[in-house]
Amino acid sequence: MSDMKNRLICGDCLDVMQGMSAESVALIYADPPHLSQNEYRGESGWQKDSELCFSDKWRWDGISAESFEKIASSGPSEIRVALMALKSLYGESSELAYSVFLAARLIEMRRLLDSRGSLFLHLGESVAHIGKILLNSVFGSKNLRNVIIWHKSGGGRSRRTFSHKYDVIFWYSKTGRWRFNADAVRIAYKETSGYAKSGITAKSGKRYEPNPKGMIPDDVWYIPMVNPLAKERAGYPTQKPESLLERIVLAASEEGEVVLDPFCGSGTALVVAARMKRRFIGIDESKRAVELTENRLKENVPSVEFELEEVRRKVYHKVVLGGMEVRIRIFSRKSCPNCETVKQMVSKFIESRNLHGLVKIESHDLDTVDGLAEGAYWDVMSVPTLIVMRGGNVLARWDGAVPKEEEIEKVLR
Ligand SMILES: C[S@@+](CC[C@H](N)C(=O)[O-])C[C@H]1O[C@@H](n2cnc3c(N)ncnc32)[C@H](O)[C@@H]1O
Repeated sequence: MSDMKNRLICGDCLDVMQGMSAESVALIYADPPHLSQNEYRGESGWQKDSELCFSDKWRWDGISAESFEKIASSGPSEIRVALMALKSLYGESSELAYSVFLAARLIEMRRLLDSRGSLFLHLGESVAHIGKILLNSVFGSKNLRNVIIWHKSGGGRSRRTFSHKYDVIFWYSKTGRWRFNADAVRIAYKETSGYAKSGITAKSGKRYEPNPKGMIPDDVWYIPMVNPLAKERAGYPTQKPESLLERIVLAASEEGEVVLDPFCGSGTALVVAARMKRRFIGIDESKRAVELTENRLKENVPSVEFELEEVRRKVYHKVVLGGMEVRIRIFSRKSCPNCETVKQMVSKFIESRNLHGLVKIESHDLDTVDGLAEGAYWDVMSVPTLIVMRGGNVLARWDGAVPKEEEIEKVLR
């Protein structure tokens, strides 16, 4: 473990974590998407037409079903029960898709933690109930150490309700023994605290003196959001403040130990971990996030080396193709001028979306006997004919016409 390099990886954290050794990590800070059903674009997250940073849109699809079946048939029994209960409650919905996504990753996170390791799972209030059910089933309710409320002061205010100003951070340890470096995270007593000035003598006569290093924070943390002018602002929506991560990293890990952030976004946890002399592994499936994190690490902790890796992305396959095999059949003749155009368009569609191996092309030449037989089977009357199929079903066909790439994409979504 001692020669482990710092790593920044572009890929799905499930794939990456599955390839990591058990018990190799001291602390995991995980800040996954929060089922907002939004796309986060630009620095603020809401800038239309800007570059997509990440999508937090969810629907029940082939991947969710496959993942559900996998856990339901072979996962640990508590998690099976929890997922079945969530299925009864939500049906095959976006909520269930999100639950399955999270469950599969929590199982891996637990496996990666060492025996004194901890997970801090950061969730929006709207999915905190799903998170807690899953965490209790994966880690056991007895291993819940704290439900931390991050009161994120700053930002706009609602006029119609009390403003939403908190996130929830669930702290679970892997076992009944966990790291907690209380002295590293002490804060000053309140100025008004009488205890801080003179201590307290209990009725029994026992003296309680204030700790000269300050007090251990409670579970409500008042930490401002990263404001638009802050020096630490990296230009990524949902960026978390460094001071929030400082407290977590200091409390639950030691120098030289490994901190993992499987949804690293702009790399807040990694920068903090590196500064605090921990080793780090950061994963994000967004290219934009990984680019930003790379630059942020180079700027903030230039002396710290790390390896940049890419794990083959399955995102398009998962999100657009529903995790199923897609087959495009093209019927052509040598004498048909548009047939070449269709073939080129399909190749470009696959090339530009990096779909090699995920979308299969079947070309049938109607000038051959085999091609004619296949054409007769599919009732092809004109060329070019293009048939798009997913999981054995015909999604669309164009007879004697050349569709645009976007039209193919639209039928697949
Ligand atoms: C809430 S943001 C994290 C923000 C981060 N804590 C920061 O301070 O910048 C969630 C991140 O999870 C990433 N993500 C979503 N699904 C993922 C997956 N399956 N594997 C890895 N990263 C994923 C998104 O690209 C996004 O950057």
